[in-house]
Amino acid sequence: MSKVTVVGAGNVGATCANVLVTTGVADEVVLIDIKEGLSEGKTMDIMQTASILGLNTRMVGVTNDYEKTANSDVVVITSGIPRKPGMTREELIGVNAGIVKSVTDNVLKYSPNAIIVCVSNPMDTMTYLIHKTSGLPKNRIIGMGGALDSARFKYFLSQSLNANPNEIEGIVIGGHGDTTMIPLTRYAAYRGIPVSSLIDAEALKKIAADTMVGGATLTGLLGTSAWYAPGAAAAQVAAAIIHDQKRMITCSALLEGEYGEKDLCIGVPCILGRNGIEKIVEFDLNDEEKELFAKSAAAVHNTNAALA
Ligand code: LAC
Repeated sequence: MSKVTVVGAGNVGATCANVLVTTGVADEVVLIDIKEGLSEGKTMDIMQTASILGLNTRMVGVTNDYEKTANSDVVVITSGIPRKPGMTREELIGVNAGIVKSVTDNVLKYSPNAIIVCVSNPMDTMTYLIHKTSGLPKNRIIGMGGALDSARFKYFLSQSLNANPNEIEGIVIGGHGDTTMIPLTRYAAYRGIPVSSLIDAEALKKIAADTMVGGATLTGLLGTSAWYAPGAAAAQVAAAIIHDQKRMITCSALLEGEYGEKDLCIGVPCILGRNGIEKIVEFDLNDEEKELFAKSAAAVHNTNAALA
């Protein structure tokens, strides 16, 4: 039996649970929130699609009852406040650090073997906080950001090429922040054809810039942080683990010398399988990309310092 718990029944958590259930990723999905009735209501709503969509996953919604999350294989943490228009992800640190710490403690009490997927912002710093406080091995703590940022990059590339997003390769590394993420344009391709030979340099620059502020653009349009793609990206990470897919997905991982950095969690291409992060893949970066990565790492270190 496979079991995934999603903590936080807000927009991102509920969307993640919905994708997990509709795509049949796990046998059981538990949605838990502190707000009385919220998880139960969202669960009922989602499960009322079961006979329409032909779903077979069992879903349980609970208010703060961590016992029901026991023996989860994967736990996705989305708890915390989202950003409002004009806010950076980094401004959420004070409130969200306390929430993420206590959620992690509760989760591990009942699922000591779970792999944790962190979605809460500022995501790289929250992932690092879990490392610092949980004592879990590094392969079992995964930050979701790069999966989302790479999906946004592929979306903007597909729009420019008028192409199917599934046929596009695009990887975003670095921090999950408006100024820290690094779309690796040099490695982006359409069915193996480098996008640099299909899209002019100015337009490619704009695609990279749009990707970097992808979350902020949506926050401005929606009045709160986005949820469909963030929720789906978290579900994609959970699926790669549950089904041992060995997919290469950019995730925030603890670095111990990879990409010349250590003692921080930041987005790098990872092979995800049943053991969580099974490998960090080191792309060959040119001098400009190396410099961007070093700057991004410095910014993430700086945000991490606010945890103390
Ligand atoms: C975003 C938030 C979830 O990028 O960080 O939309």
